[in-house]
Amino acid sequence: MGLGVSVPAVRRRSLTRASVAISVAAGLTLTGACGGGGESGDDSLTVGVLLPGGGASRFGQFDRPLIEQKLKQLCPDCPAATVAATSEPAVQRQQLDAMITRGVDVLILTVVDAKGLRSTVEAAHRAGIPVVAYDRLAQGPISGYVTFDGATVGRLQGEALLKAMGAKADGGQIVMMNGATIDPNAGWFKRGALSVLKGKVKIGKSYDTVGWRPENAYVNMTGAIAALGAGNIDGVLAANDSLASAVISAFNATEVRPLPPITGQDADLAAARRIVSGDQYMTVYKPFKPAADAAVEMAVALGRGEAVESIATGTVDSDTTKDIPAVLLPSISVTVGNIKDTLVKDGMYTINQICTPKLRSACDKAGLTR
Ligand code: GAL
Repeated sequence: MGLGVSVPAVRRRSLTRASVAISVAAGLTLTGACGGGGESGDDSLTVGVLLPGGGASRFGQFDRPLIEQKLKQLCPDCPAATVAATSEPAVQRQQLDAMITRGVDVLILTVVDAKGLRSTVEAAHRAGIPVVAYDRLAQGPISGYVTFDGATVGRLQGEALLKAMGAKADGGQIVMMNGATIDPNAGWFKRGALSVLKGKVKIGKSYDTVGWRPENAYVNMTGAIAALGAGNIDGVLAANDSLASAVISAFNATEVRPLPPITGQDADLAAARRIVSGDQYMTVYKPFKPAADAAVEMAVALGRGEAVESIATGTVDSDTTKDIPAVLLPSISVTVGNIKDTLVKDGMYTINQICTPKLRSACDKAGLTR
């Protein structure tokens, strides 16, 4: 996929990111609106947001409200963002087509199927609508990209898994439950994880999960258990928390206790609880707010016809486009020992939310006390 990350000095403007944010905000204070230059000639900016999941997913729970909040802050007089969410590639194509037809000024897109949506991203470009790729690198002519460094995510998962495996980290057997191949992040995470796991452990089975669907991961994990024997699996690299949940369900149908260490990603509330109870070893916490903020800053700048290089921290190359101005954010490995200093401290969840009555004594042990 060629996600080469580079920060060429020539592409950087002298303005810092903070000064850009201030100048956007100052512009708003003065004019009372952010100039959009929409077809109708009015001053408002219509932002279309396409997400790969709603409801209980990170995108529905965190990214969407944070994006809406930031847009309101940067552009109080803009209409609320038009948001659509689906995990179905064909439905997302229709949603994107509809937003192009409607004539939104700018798009924030978390693509479901990067390759499959390329021609529609090209259509947006032809219609003069800039696209900010959010979290997942869309193919086609995009104008900016905001994400968490996927290689780091995978590496954190792999390192935590090895640590939890103890002596078995030397030659033990693991199963890899990766994400969906149509999501470029899935390969990025996988490569990051393999960079630390290769040569250390035996990868007994490795699966790509169709559509990141837990049902598919459950079937695959049940197959791995049948083929390898539950007792011979010393760890599972699950690419995110919903896959981890499916892996745990598959193990729960066996006699094996305690469960081997299982990784995750996204810091779902259910995962935080499983980490406290000991069912899941770790998750990767991605602070979503800086990502949402940067994407909206880029979208507003592009909608106003401004460049985004000064918002970016570097550039990335996609399969189709070179030197995309990008913001790459760090993420944090969370185990039972640092839930309080990460998820609770950052206000993701309160101790009350995590510590259900059933988890009371486990929470006390973990220092999660009110
Ligand atoms: C990835 C995203 C992860 C995870 C996954 C499933 O692209 O980076 O945070 O949520 O999709 O939705």
